[in-house]
Amino acid sequence: MIISVVGHGYVGLVTAAVFADLGNTVWVLGRDPKKIEELRRGKVPFYEPGLEETVKRGLKNGYLKFTLSYSEAISPSEVIFIAVGTPGDKNGEADLSNVFIVAKKIARHITGYKIVATKSTVPPGTNQKIEEIMEKEKEKTASFDIASTPEFLSQGTALDNTLHPDRVVIGTKTQKAREILVRLHEPIDGEMILTNVKTAEMIKYAANAMLATRISFANLIALLSEQVGADALTVLKGVGLDKRIGKTFLSPGVGFGGSCLPKDTKALVKITQKAGVISEFFEAIIKVNEEVRKNFIQKIKKALGSKPQGKTIAILGLSFKPDTDDMREAPSIYIIKALQNLGVKIRAYDPKAMEKAEKILSWVTFLKDPYQTCSGSDILVVLTEWNEFKELDLLRVKELLKKPVVFDGRNIYNPEKLRELGFIYQGVGR
Ligand code: UDX
Repeated sequence: MIISVVGHGYVGLVTAAVFADLGNTVWVLGRDPKKIEELRRGKVPFYEPGLEETVKRGLKNGYLKFTLSYSEAISPSEVIFIAVGTPGDKNGEADLSNVFIVAKKIARHITGYKIVATKSTVPPGTNQKIEEIMEKEKEKTASFDIASTPEFLSQGTALDNTLHPDRVVIGTKTQKAREILVRLHEPIDGEMILTNVKTAEMIKYAANAMLATRISFANLIALLSEQVGADALTVLKGVGLDKRIGKTFLSPGVGFGGSCLPKDTKALVKITQKAGVISEFFEAIIKVNEEVRKNFIQKIKKALGSKPQGKTIAILGLSFKPDTDDMREAPSIYIIKALQNLGVKIRAYDPKAMEKAEKILSWVTFLKDPYQTCSGSDILVVLTEWNEFKELDLLRVKELLKKPVVFDGRNIYNPEKLRELGFIYQGVGR
């Protein structure tokens, strides 16, 4: 099949690379000449395991093409995916301006029959608006069907999630659109949910909200466990081993970050308010996420004593989660800024995210490895659970630190082992 993907962020580029790898001809549409030029040379602007290789393969075999020209991409395409960003605006609502601009542009270039499917996360009813906008803009002889095909990929495992997803959701209005989209997705081995457009739009928000709910639940149990003297990890293991509940997404830590869960939960608050449905549930998820960060900062403050000025903190891990260089809504940003306000110096290391972190946290000293970061620092704080940090030579770390104090924001170390080694250890909820 010949398809187009508008947008080349995580969702757009991964979708395009995977469909090209499956033998479709995929046009990726962008608006920045510099970025499109770099992509044509196989340079991926962010770190995602395996993606650059897949893009290069697509370019080499000619299945993957990058362009700035709507007429070049849209006219041969049977399906056009909209995969542009829907960032949160200042009120917490999803900013759909890019989606609508793109819909207009697509409409002006369609000839014959096309399917315009949205991969971007958009509030229920958005595709209906896309349809209305496109109806006004298109040529009389052109026809199209809208569809919602939300993407559930998780950064760090995006290629695998797209090729082997737990489910493929296809929301359509017509039988024709459904059949074509089913044919396109046939080689992808997830269970298919064939439904209407609004249900597909809702599935995406509901799924992200469920993940955020579980994390905030785990973090609330951690906050409570610290107060009552229980071990949250054992509590949550005891909860998660119940097959009806399951073990995943129950790890307490410094809260959820990234480009999706924070923004989509905030958007859901607005969506529920507009719909006249109780919104406090989603508000509480956000509140717990903020509270768990504050609680962690509070513990570090206490350890720094009454004169924190001039002390040095070693930070390991900056990205919002491992295996990505993405700093969007990373808990590290909030925690480092709060510590900075105390007048402490920050030394930091992250295996992939330092280039992006430098732009946000310019006053931080970035080091080449964990040991250099710890050297001469007063305490150590772990904020992302990169594998590299799990196997550190902890005795060496202890010698390098001025005081053997570890704040483990992702619970990667065994408290007993660290205490045996002579560390003063604090995790989350333990
Ligand atoms: C998420 C969804 O998982 C994905 O389906 C959707 O398409 C996009 O949003 P992603 O943002 O890549 O994906 O990250 P995810 O793995 O969900 O983690 C989000 C945040 O939650 C991270 O900061 C992570 O550290 C945190 N997290 C996750 C926890 O604190 N505890 C957990 O148990 C799981």
